[in-house]
Amino acid sequence: MVAAPEEGKLNDFKRDGRHSADARKPNTPIMAGFGIAMTDEEIRQSADYFSSMQWTPWIEVVEADTVPKTRPAGGMWLRLEGAEAGTEPLGKRIIETPKNTEYTERLRNPRSGFTAYVPKGSIAKGEALAMKPSAKTTQCTICHGPALNGLAVVPTLRGRSPSYLARQLADIKQGTRHGLWSPLMAPVVANLTADDILNLSAYLSSLPPAP
Ligand code: HEC
Repeated sequence: MVAAPEEGKLNDFKRDGRHSADARKPNTPIMAGFGIAMTDEEIRQSADYFSSMQWTPWIEVVEADTVPKTRPAGGMWLRLEGAEAGTEPLGKRIIETPKNTEYTERLRNPRSGFTAYVPKGSIAKGEALAMKPSAKTTQCTICHGPALNGLAVVPTLRGRSPSYLARQLADIKQGTRHGLWSPLMAPVVANLTADDILNLSAYLSSLPPAP
């Protein structure tokens, strides 16, 4: 379902309401610059265009103990190659990496997706927090819809990048995301630990995008 454009995320960027809690992260201000440069009509047209697209599966979520060794590059984690290639313990991390480095990094192939490695057991723990009442948070389905695919101004959470989801939950918790509707999320994240955020992100990204 599409929100009125003035309530949308591009307008949150335009109003300078979206900042990353990590000042070293360069892509949030780049995105804000696009929002600021766009006219109201351009924002409306791009919202219409993107909301007309069907969501397709893009990230395969795999529970694992060990993961390919990666290096940060261009805002992504790329697998090490040649003599440097190998595996390492995942620990309490999510590693989201292109399925095929060359297709993603050099050719920008829009059909070549990502794998997200998440700790064993994290999906079930995230599901319990998202779908069931608990003392820690408000069940996500109450606002994001029974299938977590969004409701009016409340965005979909299914099948989205776990790095993005975790980053947003952390930004909201640290109070650097000031969207028109962000205050509704503040009590939801107040008592979430880093482990909770990791588990929720693993679960939500593992859900197939809604048809
Ligand atoms: C009281 C209503 C409410 C509840 C309960 C709620 N959310 Fe939200 N959520 C919102 C709204 C409204 C937004 C849009 C905020 C904005 O525009 O900045 C949002 C945004 C988000 C975002 C950012 C998505 C994006 O596209 O940037 C994430 C991630 C998220 N919620 C996760 C959760 C999780 C996980 C739970 C359950 C633990 C949850 N929410 C429960 C209302 C809610």
